[in-house]
Amino acid sequence: MKLELLYQNLIGIPSESKGIEYVDLGKALPRAKKAFDKFLQQIDAKVLGYDSLPDQNTAEILRYVNSVAEDMDTMVVLGIGGSALGSRAVYNALKTTKSLVNKIYVCDNIDPTLLYEIMEKIELKRTIFNVITKSGGTAETLSQYLIVHKILKEAYKSDYRKHILITTEANNGFLRRVAEWENLPTYSVPANVGGRFSVLSDVGLVPLAFTGIDINRLLDGAKSMRERCRTTELMQNPAMMLALSHVLLLEKGFNISVMMPYSNSLADMADWYRQLWGESLGKRVDDDGNIVRVGQTPAKSIGTTDQHSQVQLYAEGPLDKIITFIRVESFKYDYTIPNLYPDELATNFLAEKTLSYLLKTEQLATEIALTDAGCPNCTITIPELDEFYIGEFIYLYETATVLAGYLQNIDPLNQPGVEAGKIATYALMGHPHYTEHQAKVESYLSKRKVEYKI
Ligand code: PA5
Repeated sequence: MKLELLYQNLIGIPSESKGIEYVDLGKALPRAKKAFDKFLQQIDAKVLGYDSLPDQNTAEILRYVNSVAEDMDTMVVLGIGGSALGSRAVYNALKTTKSLVNKIYVCDNIDPTLLYEIMEKIELKRTIFNVITKSGGTAETLSQYLIVHKILKEAYKSDYRKHILITTEANNGFLRRVAEWENLPTYSVPANVGGRFSVLSDVGLVPLAFTGIDINRLLDGAKSMRERCRTTELMQNPAMMLALSHVLLLEKGFNISVMMPYSNSLADMADWYRQLWGESLGKRVDDDGNIVRVGQTPAKSIGTTDQHSQVQLYAEGPLDKIITFIRVESFKYDYTIPNLYPDELATNFLAEKTLSYLLKTEQLATEIALTDAGCPNCTITIPELDEFYIGEFIYLYETATVLAGYLQNIDPLNQPGVEAGKIATYALMGHPHYTEHQAKVESYLSKRKVEYKI
């Protein structure tokens, strides 16, 4: 079995606003071919490092995990953005069906309450803190590292090292230097793998292997999808079909892409997607320097919960959304609904059906209703929550994202818009390298007034 993509409802559905027709896809084929050729060239040029991650040897990671198995049962990931979202998404997708024993907590914010809550839950003696930052200089992650380092040193004096693991670029960055000074164990993020494309590198594989997830099976799934996404029959290529339909719809005004898993376990997978799609494809300038300001806002919805919150908006609000349903075919744990009141119409249609059957039926019902309402949608079916299919899903979306960028002549790998906020933070925090920005933030602060006190 494999992951399936049903995309017929993205094309040619009745719509009050204009959707896309098969003829539009046909016309866009030369553009798709150009984007696909660039994708292949960039792989050859080793720019798209994520593409070769499925081939890596995991023996060293598994050796490490084995070596700590007896003493440690918890890992806390200290990281943010691409250094955190992938491992959390995969862990939460699989933790229940795979009955994982070792836990990970992902501390991806500097809200002190979050760190406090995690520190309250863990047993320090049996915990490894995996500090993950590709650049080695992200303020959020460094501040967490400094706090945790102090706590560990106070608790364990010279023995604190076995509770810290650093994952950062091989040769660059502050944290790499720290690891050398302190003689801390390290893993590496390849220079040609960007944060949001790094879940299948040491960034994600180390914590995931620690929990007991079969990382080789995860990589096998990615490998299998890579093969499917290499076909030059572009209409058969799932990544190209996702990318092309989303880009063509965006150009017709469908500015929002909602990922809607009918599975609570996959809620964080939708958050992973939000970062990948948003940060990669929201761009001001194209590759020729033209101001284009493109981007499709990714959103998350959970079925069936958000049928009672968001679906009214999707069905009757502005026709500017594409919905991607994620459907899980087979659930490990299930319940049969009992026939308690056989003569009651209110419940007897539910009787003797499983909860998962009802869940899948409601997904189908929402798909039918939204199609009728003119809302373009597609459905990805995951046979079951298993490493292989999650690996397929990850590679599919990484490649669809890159192709969507190349179709629009923008760079999906950079994130210049995030820099301005980082610089302002450094200036506000008094970082000595950012003194020239201090005047700017001070002038802003002098004009910042509270208009209303309530
Ligand atoms: O995708 C990206 O590049 C970003 O979201 C980064 O992952 C995020 O900013 C964290 O960066 P770093 O891993 O360098 O701490």
